[in-house]
Order: sequence, then C-alpha cells, then structure tokens
Amino acid sequence: MSTEQPLFSPPQLDTEAERLFRALLHVDCEPGRTWNYEDCRRIAPLTLEINRLKKEKDAVILTHSYVEPEIIYGVGDFKGDSYFLSLQARESKAKVIVFAGVVFMGETAKILSPGATVVVPDRGSGCSLADSLTGDQLRTLKAAYPDAAVVCYINSTADVKAESDVCVTSGNVYDIVAALPQRRILFVPDRLMGENLRTELQRRGVDKEIITSDGTCIVHDVFDAAAVIEARARFPGLKVVAHPECTPAVAAAADFVGSTGAMMKYVKNTVAPYFLMLTECGLVGRLQVETPEKHFIGGCRLCPYMKLNSLEKIRDALAAPRPDQIITLDENLRRRAQRSIDRMFELTPAIKG
Ligand code: 13P
Ligand code: SF4
Repeated sequence: MSTEQPLFSPPQLDTEAERLFRALLHVDCEPGRTWNYEDCRRIAPLTLEINRLKKEKDAVILTHSYVEPEIIYGVGDFKGDSYFLSLQARESKAKVIVFAGVVFMGETAKILSPGATVVVPDRGSGCSLADSLTGDQLRTLKAAYPDAAVVCYINSTADVKAESDVCVTSGNVYDIVAALPQRRILFVPDRLMGENLRTELQRRGVDKEIITSDGTCIVHDVFDAAAVIEARARFPGLKVVAHPECTPAVAAAADFVGSTGAMMKYVKNTVAPYFLMLTECGLVGRLQVETPEKHFIGGCRLCPYMKLNSLEKIRDALAAPRPDQIITLDENLRRRAQRSIDRMFELTPAIKG
C-alpha cells in the first residue's frame, strides 16, 4: 500500500475544477476543443501543482493567446500578443519566466530579461516565419541592399534580430516603418506582411520601397478571399477580422486587419451578428471566454507549434527544466538583438502618443 499523501485535498480539487469549468465553459471553436466538468476535474491537480510551483520558484507564466485556454486561464499570469508579452518580459522581476508560446517568443523574453531563467515548455515549438531566415541569409541580403533600413518582424530568431536596425510586431509595423528616415526598407521574414505593409503605406501616401524575404506563416497564408465572399453571402452583417500575416487579397476582403491584441479589441468594441476570425483558433477561444455573447462562424486554424504547449510540459519545465527547455544566448548576440527591440519600444509610444 502506498504511504504517499495526495498533494491536494478533494475540496481543493473541487474548487479548482469549478474555477476552470466556469472559465472554459464557452470555448467551442473547433470540434473536440471543449472542456466539460470532467475534463476540468482531470486537469485540476496539474493547474494546482503549477500554481504552487510558480510561488515556490518565483516564476511568472506568459501565455500567447494562441495556446490552449486551459493554459491561459488555468495557470497564465499574463496573456496577449507579442508586443504586450515582450513588455511583460522586460518589466518582470521574477527569477523564472515560463513562455507558453513559441521559441522565438522565449528568446525575445531572454533578450529583454537576461537575468531571469527563461524556459519554453517544448523546444520543438518553432514558427514557419522565424525558421524561414537565418542570420547568415540576412547578412547576404543586407549586402545586396546596403542603403536599406533592416526591419525584422518579431517572429524571427535572435540572430536575425541582432542583424536588424529595428524590430516590429504586427501591432506597430505600419507606424514604425512609416516613421523611419530611409526610403528603402528590407523587411524580413514575412513576405505577406511586407506586401500588406506596402499597400498600407501607399494608402497613407508614404513613399517607401519595401523589399521582403520569402517567409510565410503556415497558419495564415492559406485563408482564402473567395471563402470570405461566400461567408458574407451566407451571414448578412458578418464582420471579417484578419491578421496581417494573411495574403493581401484576404486583408483587402476583411473589415479589420490587426495584431491579435487589436483583433480582440475590435471584436469587443463592435456590434455585429457574427464574426469570422481569420487567425489561429486560440484567439477565438479567448473571445468565447471573454465575450460569450458574440457569435463566431468558425474558419479559424490551429498552429501546430503553439499547440505543442501543454500543462504537463509547463509543470516539468517549472519543477526541473531540462537543458533543452532553457533558453541560452551568447551575450554579445543578445545585446545586439536587444538594440533592435529597444528601438521598437522607443518608437512605439512616440508614434502612438
Ligand atoms: P501577434 O503579435 O499579433 O499576437 O502575432 C503573433 C503570431 O505569431 C501571429 O501568428
Ligand atoms: Fe508562427 Fe504562424 Fe504559428 Fe504565429 S501562427 S507562431 S506566425 S507559424
């Protein structure tokens, strides 16, 4: 007979399961991605253990809106888009930062909070954009366009950030590029965001030449403008909301294009009978939790990298991180990468304010 005491009492587990169930009750964006009370009872020991470990280790958990809602609402301290989470990483005083997102986000947190131990639950959580361009490839491109300002989207490796003049996110890309003194811009690694940037700058009457590399997001590059037109015919009054990683045709067919943070704000502030979210399903899950009165007609897609995060992996990364879960960066590279992100922070409030 085992002499081991259970970590949590049945009443603690009941209270936690009820808390989770109340939070996740309305999530229903993809078949099979729902949480009933039994599911919540099953995960309650894990969320209790993770929340206990957070205190013990002086840790904070940053969660991108695309990870599973049981992570965001079960154990997350901060939730949001790349810009917001980068700010949280920079301001964090915690000894340990767990980044439930993808590896480039963990790297960005380490660049901005070098004194913290930064861990990612799954080292395989890449990103088709970040993985599309190496620092060496960017050096070759830079040699071909020596007069260009080098602007990297935050979905890039630390090496690429270190080679860039300024980093941008989906929330500030248009304003930052418009404000740069150079006419010629080498924008990496998202070709489609670069095309959307070109269109937006033309619309604003800003004269820039945008040169891009050839990366795309495997989640956003497949949304189809013809399907948007069809959906509008089936759902009168539909509002279509897209991420700037979508194709220019999809962006043109949408009512609103913005970062995941801006998309959330748009839906919360817009009255419409239905919304079509052309982005990762995690964002729809968040909206179903936070605006349960709104209706979404489906169509979102799953990011296989974001979905590698799990409560079990977060627990293991907190309890005793394996070397592959810990982000390490050469200090010289980290400092160079930090310069491009600091430049983004300098330019963002000046423009927004
Ligand atoms: P956001 O910064 O808009 O959340 O975008 C991150 C991302 O990976 C989108 O695919
Ligand atoms: Fe990368 Fe696309 Fe996944 Fe975002 S959704 S992390 S851009 S692959």
